[in-house]
Amino acid sequence: MNKQDIMIDLNQSINSNSEEFKRLSFDLQGNILSPHARDNAAHIFIEFKNPQSARKFIKDYLVARITSSAKQKADSDAFKTGESNGLRTFINFSFSMNGYRFLDIDEHKTPTDSSFRNGMKSKQRNLNDPLIDFWQGEYQKDWHAVMIVSNKSSKILRNRVSTIKKELNKVIKSIYVEIGKGIRNNEGNHIEHFGYVDGISQPHMLTDKIDDGKISIVNWNPKGRLNLALVEDPGGEGPNSFGSYLIFRKLDQNVKAFRLAEQKLAEKMQISVDYAGAQMVGRYRNGTPLIPISPPQPTSAGKMNDFNYSSDRTTGSKCPFGSHIRKTNQRNSIIPDGVQFPRRGITYGGNLSKNAESGVGLLFMAYNSNIGSQFELMQSSWANSTGFPGGVNSPNGIDSIIGQGNDTGGQVYFKEWGNDSSVLREDKSLGGFVTMKGGEYFFTPSLSFLKNI
Ligand code: HEM
Repeated sequence: MNKQDIMIDLNQSINSNSEEFKRLSFDLQGNILSPHARDNAAHIFIEFKNPQSARKFIKDYLVARITSSAKQKADSDAFKTGESNGLRTFINFSFSMNGYRFLDIDEHKTPTDSSFRNGMKSKQRNLNDPLIDFWQGEYQKDWHAVMIVSNKSSKILRNRVSTIKKELNKVIKSIYVEIGKGIRNNEGNHIEHFGYVDGISQPHMLTDKIDDGKISIVNWNPKGRLNLALVEDPGGEGPNSFGSYLIFRKLDQNVKAFRLAEQKLAEKMQISVDYAGAQMVGRYRNGTPLIPISPPQPTSAGKMNDFNYSSDRTTGSKCPFGSHIRKTNQRNSIIPDGVQFPRRGITYGGNLSKNAESGVGLLFMAYNSNIGSQFELMQSSWANSTGFPGGVNSPNGIDSIIGQGNDTGGQVYFKEWGNDSSVLREDKSLGGFVTMKGGEYFFTPSLSFLKNI
């Protein structure tokens, strides 16, 4: 049997220079194993006019333009060696279940995840999302597909999107374009609209930075198995055709209310606003985590990620249990648990403004291999649950950043770092700063599936 005919083991992480990467990367779309890393991105939501012209558009126009993982790596290598100016456009394409149905794709070629098949709207209650009537109008629609087009330059992106739209106009009934724009702090790190560095902690399915010794891994090793995101594409050709479920959610941020909450918490506890905010997020604005430096300083460690909570398991007096990063990753073992997944979000709505009440936020995107036991579990059973993760101060309240829903137990904060008795329990959890405006579950299929569609 030819080596190419053997399916690679997804229960491992790989180096991008490995044989395994070569075998899977030509048929796998980019952005899944590593981020497209361009600060300007258009998310083009598509409703096709008819199945035949949609198939023709995908086969004759789109497939050749999609950035495979192999192409993404080649582009990134060329940029590193100075052979490229880094202005190449990145494109990927994903179908919703409505899209699979509309194109009348064979059942045995359609992805099987039940959340994907039922769509995000069916999970409104489970996720405590706003009623669909309150979603942004465009997201109340049932889109067939989403295309991500991104470039470092906003001007080049605009030109590319207008060219693509000309082609798309021949085959669509309707379209909606959501623009994302990365924002950065003075150190050049990506931040979200509350002002915190984001995208620090991720499972690394590609181990390059770890193998090169660029990441310290004593207390936390972010190596993530391929099967945190990859699944076999039932419509793909050959044993190494993989795809991934793409979760898309537009999350609007009320920056003014969040900043006020930080301030009030600081006044109540007589601590600095910086420390109050850090207890809500689990990291200071520049990324410094509340663990492990004692006492943590916002200027000390920036993007450091080599920590776990073993010195803070029962009370959370160093990093409160309701803080966003503690709710979403308990670091019980020193590698990512099976719930973790790559996040690929980008901010929208312009530059940082301390007074914005709406119209700015995060286009949250993530790739999962099982939506129910990853994204949905993290959002509903962890972030929205007041009793999680437990400990002597349970209930711990909802996630201070993304928690949604009825609050029957307030969050727990600490006046002094590591001092269990300096505890303050909020009567009602701080929250409501993030409003979901709509979203959908998609599947990002293999290129061989799209070629033969
Ligand atoms: C980490 C902000 C939505 C899951 C972070 C960090 C920030 C942040 C500032 C710390 C940086 C880092 O460690 O990478 C936000 C904001 C959101 C949002 C402002 C909404 C507007 C979400 C959602 C989820 C999520 C919806 C999943 C349901 C995570 C995870 C981490 C994280 C897993 C890494 C935790 C760790 O490994 O330490 N987020 N986030 N976030 N966020 Fe979010």
